[in-house]
Amino acid sequence: MKNPRIPLAAVIGWPIAHSKSPRIHGYWLSQLGIAGHYVPLGIPADDFADAMVQLPKLGFVGANVTIPHKEQALELATEVTERAQMIGAANTLTFLPEGGFLADNTDGIGFINNLRQKAPDWQPNAGAALVLGAGGASRAVLWSLLDAGVPQILLANRTKARAEQLSNEFGNKISVIDWSDISEATKQVSTIVNTTSLGMDGQPPLNITLTCAAGTLVTDLVYAPMITPLLQQAIDKGLPTVDGLGMLLHQAAPGFQSWFGSCPTVDDALRQVVLA
Ligand code: ATR
Repeated sequence: MKNPRIPLAAVIGWPIAHSKSPRIHGYWLSQLGIAGHYVPLGIPADDFADAMVQLPKLGFVGANVTIPHKEQALELATEVTERAQMIGAANTLTFLPEGGFLADNTDGIGFINNLRQKAPDWQPNAGAALVLGAGGASRAVLWSLLDAGVPQILLANRTKARAEQLSNEFGNKISVIDWSDISEATKQVSTIVNTTSLGMDGQPPLNITLTCAAGTLVTDLVYAPMITPLLQQAIDKGLPTVDGLGMLLHQAAPGFQSWFGSCPTVDDALRQVVLA
């Protein structure tokens, strides 16, 4: 008789101690009464390929990956989703019954699902978006805004060449603007997204003056502090805001569903568990 296995999943990184993913998945497993486990695995880059072969034999059904494995996971994958290919990195891996694994990237969908939950009146096609930053997080945000139907994106980055590179990859809906013009650009958009590290604890604030129309949605991927100087300025001006913690929570949901078979919900209790 075949022994039914308790499903195991992991977050793999190096280092890994800081990851909040075990708290998120642990909360959902216990809330939904699922007999499964989600563990942090510290695996250095050189051992990652071997781990991807061994883990399914031990009962792992999938894994999240974080630094430094996000690009290597894409290269080693048997199958890659279109969004992971566009974003250029993977964060959610599912082992396939026939061997190998599927690589997905759920950061962009996590970003959009957070906006839809916290700002249900937000209409992606209402106008252009201003995206600040051109790193890995920006790639996920650009993919998701275009996928959601935002008609045009103004992209600004301190190092302009990085923004131009993204504009080349993502197409002619992306217009690169100078970093010095970001305050002026706030007048023309209905969505503003900070993907830079500015405003994070220990970093300088983002130097911007919001002169946008009423109703412009302002969101920050930084969630430490939860209310960044950018979000505080938006709140003071009566603009709708969405903080960055929800993106972290929502990006975890598709992996949980594919590994453990139930659709989890992002609620305030989960936010408290992750903040504790
Ligand atoms: P992530 O993967 O989280 O996006 P990243 O690739 O290191 O991280 O990107 C960090 C982003 O924050 C970049 O857009 C970076 O701008 P540069 O490309 O010019 O480096 C931006 N950033 C970091 N510190 C900044 C600062 N002091 N002023 C302006 N932008 C800054």
